[in-house]
Amino acid sequence: MSKSLEFEVTLYPDPVLRKPAAPVETFGTDLKETIEAMFARMRESNGVGLAAPQVGLKQRILVVNHTGEDSDDLVLVNPEIQKLWGPRDVMEEGCLSFPGIFGEVSRPEKVKLTAQTPEGEAFEKVYEGFLSRVIQHEMDHLEGVLLVDRMSPADKLKNKVAFENMVHDYKDAQAKAER
Ligand code: CO
Repeated sequence: MSKSLEFEVTLYPDPVLRKPAAPVETFGTDLKETIEAMFARMRESNGVGLAAPQVGLKQRILVVNHTGEDSDDLVLVNPEIQKLWGPRDVMEEGCLSFPGIFGEVSRPEKVKLTAQTPEGEAFEKVYEGFLSRVIQHEMDHLEGVLLVDRMSPADKLKNKVAFENMVHDYKDAQAKAER
């Protein structure tokens, strides 16, 4: 088993963040290594959730930990939203793919998901409150939907220069890589 799998966080506006992720079909050692490396990346970056496209993988895998307690580690493989309901709540969200950028996002209170464990076992569960919000944010990543699309128009305007700087930095990095 390789101990060397390490991920960097893919930053906006890398196009991989806009591509819908494909279902995981093989449940085995590779998947488990990917999940471990995603958790390691999430913790090092002080995140509460990470979606596979954020480490450059077009796969339907999410890792979440909304409290920082090891016992709250949650892995969702091939998650699908079955139902979203409850009163909408507005809260400021951030995203590891948008460092330093925050914006208010409105989301319904509850989400019902079907998903699989890393072993491939199917389950269905309802999530509420902050955990529901984190999961909804990470689910967006699997469809190529990003914080910039969800935040209030006022916050989008407030962060306009920061978004432009990210696009500039990305283009700069691309140009350097081509040289
Ligand atoms: Co995010």
